[in-house]
Amino acid sequence: MLDRIKSTACFIRNKVAFEPEVGIILGTGLGGLADGIDTVASLDYREIPDFPVSTVEGHRGRLIFGMLGGKKVVAMQGRFHYYEGYTPQQVVFPVRVMKMLGIRYLFVSNASGGVNETFRTGDLMVITDHINLIPNPLIGPNIAELGPRFPDMNDAYNHELIEKAKRVAAREEIPLRFGCYVGGTGPTYETQKEYGYFKAIGGDAVGMSTTPEVIAARHMGVTVFGVSVITNMGLTGLKSTHEEVQEEGIKAGKRMTRLFTELLKEL
Ligand code: HPA
Repeated sequence: MLDRIKSTACFIRNKVAFEPEVGIILGTGLGGLADGIDTVASLDYREIPDFPVSTVEGHRGRLIFGMLGGKKVVAMQGRFHYYEGYTPQQVVFPVRVMKMLGIRYLFVSNASGGVNETFRTGDLMVITDHINLIPNPLIGPNIAELGPRFPDMNDAYNHELIEKAKRVAAREEIPLRFGCYVGGTGPTYETQKEYGYFKAIGGDAVGMSTTPEVIAARHMGVTVFGVSVITNMGLTGLKSTHEEVQEEGIKAGKRMTRLFTELLKEL
């Protein structure tokens, strides 16, 4: 595994002479952030050895290297989900490769269903904690070169970045919510009782990604900042559709892009 991570990173380094400081993962409908990047190079996932290929509509499947908010970034336009049939280790492979490329920070985004009833469709929720219900990507022999056997998950979502985000959002007049993201396997959206269950256990939003990536990033000591775009309200009893999730993502994505860009300037 470690050899494959290293050889993929080596392949990318040979293609793109650019050392990113920040990795960004763009969620469903949130690929628009890529337009703001002053792009130096981009690589289609299909060109990269051992990279999975994204199979979901709304996930384009390329790595974009360039400048955003004055920082050197690498953005994943399109991510890998457990529900696509990838192993948890395949899901986090790109995060580990990005770390080998030099990232110290990971900014994650996703589309999610709101279970906190004070939320509204289109809200941005800064992730302050998570509940992971997807098989843990660290199960199996520990790769000691990447991190410890039993990594700490306190402060997984860096509180200093959360405080900075609050200041940036106040200045930029971007309304923010804060809360706990529940990572479920999908691919089904939840039943009413399941949304109620996620609320009862302390969740504010639920989605099908992010927690494995954050676990892998924290294992390697990468500092994480995360935002969920609330694309539907779970407890309304209204049916959630992938189209609705994509549309809401695109609308709220503009605000999220501004938040990420301004926060990058402050790193
Ligand atoms: N549930 C799970 N994942 C989601 C949802 C949802 O309601 N909305 C967007 N991603």
